[in-house]
Amino acid sequence: MTTLIERKRDGGVLDPAEIRWMISEYAADRLPDYQMSALLMAVFMEGLEPQELDAWTDAMLHSGEILDLSNVPIPKVDKHSTGGVGDKVSIPLAPMVAACGVAVPMMSGRGLGHTGGTLDKLESIPGFRTALDPPEFRSIVERTGLVLAGQSETLVPADRRLYALRDATGTVPSIPLIASSIMSKKLAEDLDALVLDVKVGRGAFMRDLDRAHLLAETMVGIGAARDTQVVAVLTDMGQPLGRAVGNANEIAESIEVLQGGGPPDLLEVTYRLGEEMLMRSGKAVERADARSRLEEAVESGAAFEKLAEVVIAQGGDPEALHDPGLLPSAGHEHVITASSTGYLARADALDIGMGAVALGAGRQRKEDGIDPAVGITIEAKLGDMVEEGQPLARVAWNDSARLEAALRYVEGAFAVSSEEVVAPPLIYGEVS
Ligand code: URA
Repeated sequence: MTTLIERKRDGGVLDPAEIRWMISEYAADRLPDYQMSALLMAVFMEGLEPQELDAWTDAMLHSGEILDLSNVPIPKVDKHSTGGVGDKVSIPLAPMVAACGVAVPMMSGRGLGHTGGTLDKLESIPGFRTALDPPEFRSIVERTGLVLAGQSETLVPADRRLYALRDATGTVPSIPLIASSIMSKKLAEDLDALVLDVKVGRGAFMRDLDRAHLLAETMVGIGAARDTQVVAVLTDMGQPLGRAVGNANEIAESIEVLQGGGPPDLLEVTYRLGEEMLMRSGKAVERADARSRLEEAVESGAAFEKLAEVVIAQGGDPEALHDPGLLPSAGHEHVITASSTGYLARADALDIGMGAVALGAGRQRKEDGIDPAVGITIEAKLGDMVEEGQPLARVAWNDSARLEAALRYVEGAFAVSSEEVVAPPLIYGEVS
């Protein structure tokens, strides 16, 4: 291992057998964290050559079980986001697509750093279970065409250990490490196609468009080499997506989308990704056709019913979907108002995400619990005209010390300009 660390440190190349050995030894707990940490930092600094990335991804993929979904007779497509603030897209999107006859075996993650996690949000539905073993995961997707669960212990176990180590050693934002981490997990799902939402901006792991593009190309390339169609859509994460940032409040906003409402930016990203999922699965040829199928699934109530079906299948209370008042709610509200009249020039996703974590909607340490009831509701979007004293955000809180910590981030997250502000684009493009 010392030889491998030194070689990578000095810009050399590791061969596939060395990478396979290293990943499997680490997954089996036979390599110490300090050596793997040093190797990860060398990879962070030096990158991986294409053949190294290929071997790294394969080694991760084969560190555990690969799902067998061959009993699912319809196309299987998943969507994965690289992580953002207010990014609840998966929750309305997966049932919309499943209602159009595509199987969506969705494996999601928990909140990470300042970004929220689909599993944490789903668990604010009373009773909803996200920890499913592979037989139950398979059985639910076979029955309903949809499952919304966490990654099982047996799938890509190497990533679980490596991710925790990266989180603690400053080696998360590396393009080859992110690409292999995400793609190994997605390839283990036995998919026909994968749609990636690569987030760009202050609230994302990729802050600039060039790096986001490179990450998208790297992931699309990994899929292409393994006969899995992958398309990556690059979307903005400079400001939070939609209005709700938190957990239960994001479920309520997702329900709004499935009932024909919802904020325009959330709808635009959700429908765009849904169109890609239907086109890649062969359910639609033209974007317009895909769009009208998705709209029909919402208007007819089929998408909402699909979510209710999967909530029941995973032990949740479907009444909470019909009456979001049954979702956890916080005891108090603090309103942040505009300090002057003008145009909203800043609604910083990173600060708002950090504020939500401080409030208890996310974790400061891995072992922390979260409070599903607390969160932030954004009342104005970049470029909106606002009046002095008008609410910009509502902070729903339960603990005054946590509120104080959250306000240190959230109060500075907003700025109003007297000059007109042009809202940034929401969708920057796609890579396939
Ligand atoms: N999400 C993942 O699953 N892995 C990463 O490395 C980053 C985001």
